Amino acid sequence: MKTVASGSPFAASSAEMFDPRVVEPAVDLLAGPAGDGGRALEFGAGTGRVALPLAARGVAVHGIGMSRAMVERLRAKPGGDGIGVTIGDFATAKAEGTFSVAYLVHNTIMNLTSQDTQVDRFRNAAVQLEPGGCFVVEAGVPDPRRLPPGQNAVPFRVGEGRRGSDLYDVAGQSVTSHHVSVRDGRGSYLAVPFRYVWPAEPDLMARLAGMRLRERREGWTREPFTSESRQHVSVWEKVAGRGGRRSPVVGSPPHQAVEAVARRPCPGRERREVPEACGQGARVRVPPERLDAVCRVSAPGTAIDQRFG
Ligand SMILES: C[S@@+](CC[C@H](N)C(=O)[O-])C[C@H]1O[C@@H](n2cnc3c(N)ncnc32)[C@H](O)[C@@H]1O
Repeated sequence: MKTVASGSPFAASSAEMFDPRVVEPAVDLLAGPAGDGGRALEFGAGTGRVALPLAARGVAVHGIGMSRAMVERLRAKPGGDGIGVTIGDFATAKAEGTFSVAYLVHNTIMNLTSQDTQVDRFRNAAVQLEPGGCFVVEAGVPDPRRLPPGQNAVPFRVGEGRRGSDLYDVAGQSVTSHHVSVRDGRGSYLAVPFRYVWPAEPDLMARLAGMRLRERREGWTREPFTSESRQHVSVWEKVAGRGGRRSPVVGSPPHQAVEAVARRPCPGRERREVPEACGQGARVRVPPERLDAVCRVSAPGTAIDQRFG
């Protein structure tokens, strides 16, 4: 049974997502990398749908979430007291210690509606993982075939008393799911914005954070991931010695340049190349048209320090 691919890739009924046939395979897969005596970190733990059964397998689970109401519901459930919780934005909030597995399920990565915050999300996972630890993400795969030219709306639920449609902004790589329902003569309306991502983009985000892809499957029961897959479960592992906070993967020239020039103030942009213009540490030559962006993030105490420091 699939969760995120029912109608909209961005919506599933709560009945489906709480079905043990959905939850148990997820818990099986997460319990593996958590290992004996391991610790697991859930980003956006909600009411403990996954955290509670995982804890019941003997894994110490900690959740980060921003909804106090959901934490209260988690606490009220049997075993809820055993789940540690940090209230905060999971793009940046930290829990105590390190973890053998971190996970973000049920399309929650797309709740972060900018590329920057999604990148922060991966970096925040990496810094909280032990070397060799795994970051597991379950997310839908956008399907451009659902959007013929000129169309921006895709209905995903049309039934008595219920309507659901996704409105796409393709240029902005975003979609808003609109839910309308009528019950006992009363209507309700909910709009949920997402930033959708193809699997290749999180691979790059993981690489920026010092992780590499270990496995990608269509679902929790490890079906092959194919061109027809409407969702994926991906596992990245933290590369030993790397870790998002101080060690972005520097295999690509822009990162080498940005990291290197960050060590010194950028005196000016009048010279033609970064090694002369921005600092002796730079090994990579950046074309003049990129100097503006590189220098803007490079002065000590500015964005570069906050992101890597
Ligand atoms: C779709 S629910 C999934 C809940 C749970 N992971 C599950 O699978 O049942 C998304 C959860 O992420 C939380 N959330 C969304 N954005 C968040 C953010 N930026 N920081 C922390 N929590 C967030 C929501 O409050 C909600 O609990």
